[in-house]
Amino acid sequence: MGESSYLLGTHAEELERLRFQHELWRPAAQAAWQRAGLSAGMRVLDVGAGPGFASMDLARTVGPTGRVLGLELSEAYVAAGQAMARNAQLPWLELRRHDLLRDRWPAEGFDLAWCRWVAMFLPDLDPLLSGLEQSLRIGGQLVLHEYVHWDSFGLHPGGGAIARFGQACQRSFREAGGDPDPNRRLPALLAARGWRIEAVQPLPVAGDSRSMAGQWLQRFVEVYGVRLQELGLWSSGDAAEAHAEMVAAAADPGSYWVGPTVLDVRASRAE
Ligand SMILES: C[S@@+](CC[C@H](N)C(=O)[O-])C[C@H]1O[C@@H](n2cnc3c(N)ncnc32)[C@H](O)[C@@H]1O
Repeated sequence: MGESSYLLGTHAEELERLRFQHELWRPAAQAAWQRAGLSAGMRVLDVGAGPGFASMDLARTVGPTGRVLGLELSEAYVAAGQAMARNAQLPWLELRRHDLLRDRWPAEGFDLAWCRWVAMFLPDLDPLLSGLEQSLRIGGQLVLHEYVHWDSFGLHPGGGAIARFGQACQRSFREAGGDPDPNRRLPALLAARGWRIEAVQPLPVAGDSRSMAGQWLQRFVEVYGVRLQELGLWSSGDAAEAHAEMVAAAADPGSYWVGPTVLDVRASRAE
């Protein structure tokens, strides 16, 4: 897979979108890491790390006696993440170009693996699960933040074009070989391979147009709408309709956005 094969792209706007998205979801991520026992000195694997926004937070927590390795397909994201790590003086954070489906996973006995919004793009989950078994120590913890209910995405009341946008997104993920809601399957796949499922909990988000959740979803409609048009799944007329709905919603104090629902899954690697 090359630079252009990641469905959402790796252009500057997508990098900024990922930064903002991480700001919104940071408290949920940090709470999940805490439940998994993240602490100083730990070795952590960030699976499909993007430009490494979560990796940076993980690196600050594990400190210089720990290690964070981010595996990422995109050369551009790896370069951006390495530059951020250097600027922040976090030499124990490494971003590495790695294809989760094809490359050999590092057998370093990691204590914790973190994977957010990555499984949804993979046409085959087996290499992900085998790779995690290769890289985590026995008893090591896995925290997965992937979607479980994309259908909850919407703008209310009304939002007909936005609802169609959500359907077009799901179609685009499926047509590229992915699954919008991989956390419907992952706990069962992990359990079948002998992992212990420690906890599952949904993480819903909602808010008006000015809230961080609302801004995140509006930005996604604008940025990913361009890609959906390239894919022939969305038209300029659809985009104009969706834009008009967003403008109307911003002037309506009763309107609100709901995001696609993430499921937080924590599992531990058994013998
Ligand atoms: C939506 S981004 C999420 C990034 C990061 N996990 C976060 O939460 O901010 C999905 C990332 O998965 C990466 N990815 C997709 N397929 C991959 C593969 N086969 N191997 C490695 N990374 C992959 C993409 O390049 C992209 O950076």
